[in-house]
Amino acid sequence: MDALASVRGTARVVLSIRVLPVRVGWFWLRAHHRARNSEDRFSLASAARPIELAQLLTLARGRAAVVELGTGTAWTAIALALQARDGKVITYDPCVRSEREAYLDLAGRSARARIELRDEPDTRGPRAGDPPVELLFIDSSHDRESVVRAFRTWRNALAPAAFVVFHDYDHPEYSGVREGVLELELSGTQSGSLFVWRAPP
Ligand SMILES: C[S@@+](CC[C@H](N)C(=O)[O-])C[C@H]1O[C@@H](n2cnc3c(N)ncnc32)[C@H](O)[C@@H]1O
Repeated sequence: MDALASVRGTARVVLSIRVLPVRVGWFWLRAHHRARNSEDRFSLASAARPIELAQLLTLARGRAAVVELGTGTAWTAIALALQARDGKVITYDPCVRSEREAYLDLAGRSARARIELRDEPDTRGPRAGDPPVELLFIDSSHDRESVVRAFRTWRNALAPAAFVVFHDYDHPEYSGVREGVLELELSGTQSGSLFVWRAPP
């Protein structure tokens, strides 16, 4: 990559993170820089984009019990934990990626302490003693059956008026997300690439 392209790339990232709270934006900038330098294409392609993250963080505000299905390299879990100073983020993924620890190191000690990594499939469901989930972010397997199964596994663990947020709802390569939402007959709202359903109060 020539110097001009690199400067343009950095400028694009800096512009994109202006929608994020400062602490989250600062983390995202450093994570992105690290991913580019280490050629971590998985993180660059799979982590929720700043605009999606901003929408998710708005929904998560004031919600202490957050669960993410599909940790990946933990960028979104870290962003949620940076915001939820009194809360906790539990995140599920059976595939532990070697790059994950380096990003968790960027989170800082207190945000890191608010993240519980469960290296298990989302279908394992909640554990005894877990609090009712106030925000569930579904970003694991994107095929219809998995989306339906993940929602049904977690449905009874939701707090009243909890938000359930499906990622990649409008992604052309992941039509399973939209099909799953249709099969579940959920009536909610689309916000960019997110589909948001709210549990009854
Ligand atoms: C799109 S990535 C997640 C990105 C992450 N949410 C973020 O924004 O940084 C999807 C992840 O889901 C994981 N995954 C696939 N099937 C899963 C399952 N059944 N339960 C939990 N995670 C799963 C994959 O290993 C992959 O890491």
